[in-house]
Amino acid sequence: MGQKRYFLRDFTEVLQQVEGEIDTVVDLFGGSGLLSHTAKRVLPGCRVVYNDFDRYIDRLAAVDTTNEILGVIKQRLTDLEANKRLSEQERADVLAIVEDYTRRGYVDIMTIGRNVLFSGKWVTSFEELTKHTMYNRVRPGLYEAAGYLDGLEVEHMDYRELFERERGNSRALFVLDPPYLTTECGMYQNYWRLTDYLDVLRLLDGTKWVYFTSDKSQIVELCKWLGDNFGESAPMYGATVRQRTNTLNYQAQFNDMMITRL
Ligand SMILES: C[S@@+](CC[C@H](N)C(=O)[O-])C[C@H]1O[C@@H](n2cnc3c(N)ncnc32)[C@H](O)[C@@H]1O
Repeated sequence: MGQKRYFLRDFTEVLQQVEGEIDTVVDLFGGSGLLSHTAKRVLPGCRVVYNDFDRYIDRLAAVDTTNEILGVIKQRLTDLEANKRLSEQERADVLAIVEDYTRRGYVDIMTIGRNVLFSGKWVTSFEELTKHTMYNRVRPGLYEAAGYLDGLEVEHMDYRELFERERGNSRALFVLDPPYLTTECGMYQNYWRLTDYLDVLRLLDGTKWVYFTSDKSQIVELCKWLGDNFGESAPMYGATVRQRTNTLNYQAQFNDMMITRL
């Protein structure tokens, strides 16, 4: 989700910078848990709260089944070159394999989708999977999740509720990576509105935080304008911005940003 892994070095530096000053990291929009996982590795003595709003833990728990399903699919597609489009028969067989597992229990359809759909496409249900053209993108090797969540406190709640619970701790660092306003990941489209973004800004007052966004969202531009016109009372006033250029293709690029006030 997003390109958080490109920020891991910067994020690590920030954590090292606040070592000793904080005792808790609260990852309010945990997603895949990558930032929580990193925080626990860098600051093992800190409490790290991973807010798993999407129940990513279910997908982690299903890793063995996911590997098994992909193994069966790979077997079925042995004669097909990597990245080639599946024939109607191959596609029907892949769907039959997945459907069979779906009947028996939970299937991490999103991960299965990533292995048989065009790059960037994703699905959240078997129904959706049946509507797409398929490609042999089954990755070699197995997914591994052992130990990934070790030491994390896992919650599944609205970020506001978790913030209310933790805000009284002046030694907490809040990690804010809300869904992007415009995003290449179709999943969040039309689901976070401007007001939702502005609501998140209210969390920045009087707390230590790391905020992730991109210049596509224009939130930073807004905060800069507010800072220029209203000074210290503006959210993000005096914050440090780190930026990375993200190239989607030769025409489209935007800047991912990590903003901190510690
Ligand atoms: C940009 S992603 C976070 C990615 C994450 N940092 C990672 O490394 O994978 C934003 C996440 O916020 C979640 N989310 C959406 N609405 C939320 C809410 N009201 N409270 C908490 N999380 C929410 C989304 O489901 C999504 O997982």
